[in-house]
Amino acid sequence: MRLFSKKLLIVIKYFQFILLSLLSTLSYSQTNNAYKFKIDLVNVSDDKVRVELTTPVIKSNTITYHVPKIVPGTYSEDDFGRYIEQFRALDKNGKELSVTQNDVNNWSIADAGKLSKISYVVNDTYDSLNAKPAIFEPAGSNIQKDTDYVINNHCFLGYFDDMKNVQYEITIQHPANMYGSTALTDMDNSNTAESAAAYALCYKCHNRTSILGNQSFSRHQLHIGSVQASCALCHDSHGISSTQGNATNNAHLVNFDKRFVTPSSGGILRYDSLGTRTGRCYLTCHGRNHNPETY
Ligand code: HEC
Ligand code: HEC
Repeated sequence: MRLFSKKLLIVIKYFQFILLSLLSTLSYSQTNNAYKFKIDLVNVSDDKVRVELTTPVIKSNTITYHVPKIVPGTYSEDDFGRYIEQFRALDKNGKELSVTQNDVNNWSIADAGKLSKISYVVNDTYDSLNAKPAIFEPAGSNIQKDTDYVINNHCFLGYFDDMKNVQYEITIQHPANMYGSTALTDMDNSNTAESAAAYALCYKCHNRTSILGNQSFSRHQLHIGSVQASCALCHDSHGISSTQGNATNNAHLVNFDKRFVTPSSGGILRYDSLGTRTGRCYLTCHGRNHNPETY
């Protein structure tokens, strides 16, 4: 069958994302047995991007790695394998395993029990619009070093037979000045070493010395400095709606980033202001339970 299975379609749909030009490392989902992909947008040469996969655990003797022939919505046989070069399979010591390319979209790897990494480079489809069949742009990819990247996952990422339900974790390394836009959940908590430059935007109006001097929140220095929590982990600097906050709960624009801050052991996730320069937090973060902690 040429179309890949329904299960994979769901995975692809779930992970579909375009237009990535990024600010810091992005990664999605975190489990032990997962496809762990790294896409390197820093060391790009010849408008080609290196993709590295740390494979999930493989039990069979040989295994076949596929990239899609067709993706939903295009009704064309696009053969995304056409854009993949320098395919290599490696064991945990970096030794090459034998690879046979079966057709343009798949590669069989011998001794697959030893497989640890797959690595290849990807060329983009926008620069190859004259190649036949041309790929309809919304399904394609763009690689324009230090300018922009359009990353449709099926152009860059593949899958193994019988492992279509395994989770994908994607980490994108990119120049610091690039910003990423994605429909996926960005699991990068933006841990940032504090400096005047790192938070230049906030310090333009708010006084760095006062904040790090704990003049308001007596634990500012601890969290911003030692824990390297970004301001956005605790504050919604664009403001919070009246349905979320009142003078007590969520005062001082406190609105925890729920991707990383979870309820306390008592099941509560809340900030209460208790008056001038005093408040309490119910939450779990950086492995610490606040049930509550009061300052
Ligand atoms: C761990 C959570 C946390 C982090 C991280 C954090 N804050 Fe706060 N911040 C608070 C709390 C709680 C208060 C309320 C203090 C009070 O009771 O007045 C506060 C108060 C403030 C205030 C109002 C009082 C004042 O000092 O003017 C500003 C402004 C502020 N924070 C800016 C920042 C900036 C900028 C950063 C990042 C560099 C940051 N905060 C990081 C928790 C945090
Ligand atoms: C253009 C100036 C400006 C910039 C830039 C700015 N703020 Fe503010 N911020 C303000 C003003 C003005 C207030 C309202 C002060 C007040 O209510 O007394 C405020 C209020 C806040 C408060 C609530 C203070 C309180 O006690 O209620 C927090 C927290 C805060 N800002 C955090 C940030 C963070 C984090 C950044 C960077 C992402 C940032 N701000 C960038 C001007 C700025």
